Amino acid sequence: MKFTEEQLQNEELRLLEKLEAAGWSAADVKVIAPLTLEINQLKKEQDAIILAHSYQTPDIVYGVADFIGDSYGLSIAAKSTKASKIIFCSVHFMAETAKLLNPEKEVLVPSVAGCSLAESITPEDIKELRKQHPNAGVVCYVNTTAATKAECDSSCTSSNVMKVIEGMPQDEIIFVPDEFMAKNVQPLTDKKIIGWQGRCIVHEEFSPETVDEVREMYPGVKILAHTECSPAVIEKVDMAGGTKDMIEYIDNSKDEQFMLVTECGMVDRMKVEKPEKKMVGSCAMCPFMKKIMLKDVLQSLKEPREDQKVNIPADIANKARANLEKMIELTEK
Ligand code: 13P
Ligand code: SF4
Repeated sequence: MKFTEEQLQNEELRLLEKLEAAGWSAADVKVIAPLTLEINQLKKEQDAIILAHSYQTPDIVYGVADFIGDSYGLSIAAKSTKASKIIFCSVHFMAETAKLLNPEKEVLVPSVAGCSLAESITPEDIKELRKQHPNAGVVCYVNTTAATKAECDSSCTSSNVMKVIEGMPQDEIIFVPDEFMAKNVQPLTDKKIIGWQGRCIVHEEFSPETVDEVREMYPGVKILAHTECSPAVIEKVDMAGGTKDMIEYIDNSKDEQFMLVTECGMVDRMKVEKPEKKMVGSCAMCPFMKKIMLKDVLQSLKEPREDQKVNIPADIANKARANLEKMIELTEK
């Protein structure tokens, strides 16, 4: 696609206005302006919508995304969109969720990216756990494959985990696959939580010592951690929750300095969207989330490859959809 000098300059200005706060230069945005222009043009022509998780890079979040959110928000956006095609910029299990909730739509993932949690458990593991705990309900974190979801009663995300657990009729809950999240929710419920040994390779890297160091370095700092962090980290922070909870906390807080114990995409988002607040300390990169690049988004719109098309066999899809509908029912109650 050919663009005029004026179109390119306007796009560079539009991008720089957002991306500068996240450390991008005029030279950086010059490189991506032709890509974002073409993607946005193709999106219109094809009646496509781009959904992006907050952990995506700022060029995707502010360059081409129509909706940015956490895993629950993205599920609801995917379920309710009127667009005929969904380009899902995130890890594969989230794109599967979009396809399950909106099966008539074409759902594409620009790069096929896994997740250490989703890969830590199989449908056979769930069947075995059910045999060992026949009276327990089974809740899976949404970070699981459609095939695993198909064997569980309900999904949950970090933002609705307590609503889902408390909404289940059983007093014993098998909670998979996040070992740390299971340990973090146990003190918040009277139900017995039976966990699994999956971990997020990004959030398990944070240590309680880092939290202590940042508190000492930045007196008065508020430290917000993702519930996928270890209990040793969670007990030292001011708020534990999902990415949406972090944004709400910052929105409602008069404090000025925050450390986000999570993926760097969230820190970039806050730098761009809340310039009056200061983000301190370090964050961590998710190698899976960061696999998606603008060139892949463009390619998926132009000529999608088979591996970019999200398709789920009907027998798995029907059961996994019931699991997701259950999560939505328990959340929206
Ligand atoms: P959120 O639902 O909080 O966005 O978390 C998704 C995720 O993958 C965290 O690592
Ligand atoms: Fe999976 Fe962790 Fe990456 Fe989230 S941050 S997608 S849980 S590996």
